[in-house]
Amino acid sequence: MELSHLIINNKPSENSNNLLQKNFNKESNDKKVYIETYGCQMNYSDTEIVLSVLSEFGYNETSDIEESDVLLLNTCSIRENAENKVYKRLDDLKKYKTQNPNLVIGILGCMAERLKNDLLKRRKIVDLIVGPDEYRKVPHLIDNLIETGEKGIAIKLSRVETYDDITPVRKKGVTAWISIMRGCDKFCTFCVVPFTRGRERSRNLKNIIDEAKRLSDEGVKDIWLLGQNVNSYKFGDEDFSDLLDKTANAVPNMRLRYTTSHPYDLSMKLLEVMTKHKNICNYIHLPIQSGSDRILNKMNRLYSVEQYMNVMKKAREMMPGVGLSTDIISCFPSETEDEHKMTLDVIREVRYDGAYTFAYSPRENTKAFDMEDRIDEETKNRRLDEIITIQRKISVEINQRLIGKTMPVLIESLSRKSDDFFMARTDCNKSVIVPKEFSYVSESGELNHKKNFHIGDFVNIKINKVNSATLFGDPVL
Ligand code: SAH
Ligand code: SF4
Ligand code: F3S
Repeated sequence: MELSHLIINNKPSENSNNLLQKNFNKESNDKKVYIETYGCQMNYSDTEIVLSVLSEFGYNETSDIEESDVLLLNTCSIRENAENKVYKRLDDLKKYKTQNPNLVIGILGCMAERLKNDLLKRRKIVDLIVGPDEYRKVPHLIDNLIETGEKGIAIKLSRVETYDDITPVRKKGVTAWISIMRGCDKFCTFCVVPFTRGRERSRNLKNIIDEAKRLSDEGVKDIWLLGQNVNSYKFGDEDFSDLLDKTANAVPNMRLRYTTSHPYDLSMKLLEVMTKHKNICNYIHLPIQSGSDRILNKMNRLYSVEQYMNVMKKAREMMPGVGLSTDIISCFPSETEDEHKMTLDVIREVRYDGAYTFAYSPRENTKAFDMEDRIDEETKNRRLDEIITIQRKISVEINQRLIGKTMPVLIESLSRKSDDFFMARTDCNKSVIVPKEFSYVSESGELNHKKNFHIGDFVNIKINKVNSATLFGDPVL
């Protein structure tokens, strides 16, 4: 279940690319780069940085591979299937290299960092391998390749690089991402991120706030503050709560959200800041991973189920109606049937609005890779199914209680399924499908009075239909 807020694995839509070209491409640039992004929001945010670096060297983005000079895949290594997707994509892309032997093909991101030279060996069409901390080098590596024919590889991880001075080339829209920190020092035993992204480092607090203000001036209405573990943000004496507090004050009309926080570091101070500001969304994504203390310990997650439940309880007390979601890994090595049931119990007890659920995927060089008692595929499928079924039932029940309720939403984009509808979002992070045009009886009694809404509008919506992932409703004027 790969939903949009955490793991997004789609190609940029035609629509958003066109918007981007129209708004951000420089007229004087005559070279073209096509880029596909896989993985988490941080990778999407990094793609915006790469586009910014390349635009200074004469490149504009294109959504048409056939007209591109450079083709980049910004990749993810989190699970085996994320990597397989990219290998498969590289096979599909061979035909473009045959058509145009001058086409430069590069792999960016976590796979570049994890697989390094192997990637060059395994896929001959790859010309460049660039890890997440080396994006400033991309244009030089391309130039060098064109001049000398030498394949480019840059995979050093940095303790300081935050791209703090680079203004990302953002797609036009009402939502924007700001990366506030990079890397992760938590070393959960299943996870590749500390190896692909390196050590934690935080951006300058003032620069983040200035960026939020600039985005507000440009018409952005909703900002996600991003990091693998935002609660580890540290700049001088200031922590993530301070950053959130100051940003909320600096852009009082901006919706603010963040992802992801680690339960070990989520402080009361942060919950207090969240309750203090109306513009900080009433939503927390807090990955539990497992409902068993023994498994959490083997995962090196640094909290117990009881501690986690206390945070959830506190959040619900302090923030009534808070939207809660989580990540769960099913079938970590040696997970017993009883331990699996403990995870189901936690889901029933917390009653999450949504969960991102994954079957454990062994990743080479992580500690868990060498752990014994891997779970067989059949059990994996069954346990994951049980988790998904229970969570879906709970999500539907929670959403059904919203039928008939009126809630403010921000219209974010066109609905993916129909041009007659918009996708909007509630304060607690639920997607709502609303009609683009709405007929109503006007104050003077005129029937069939029509009103159009626009992306960026805040509208009150009365919910009339729901499923486990989406609400549907009509505007209330
Ligand atoms: N930094 C975030 C998570 C980033 S990865 C955090 O700690 O919360 C997103 C999710 O992918 C994780 O929460 C975990 O549930 C899942 N994940 C990570 N490694 C995995 C693996 N080896 N197999 C299956 N799922 C994994
Ligand atoms: Fe991976 Fe754990 Fe870091 Fe999240 S906190 S990125 S799961 S190591
Ligand atoms: Fe994937 Fe790297 Fe993000 S492994 S989830 S793209 S940090």
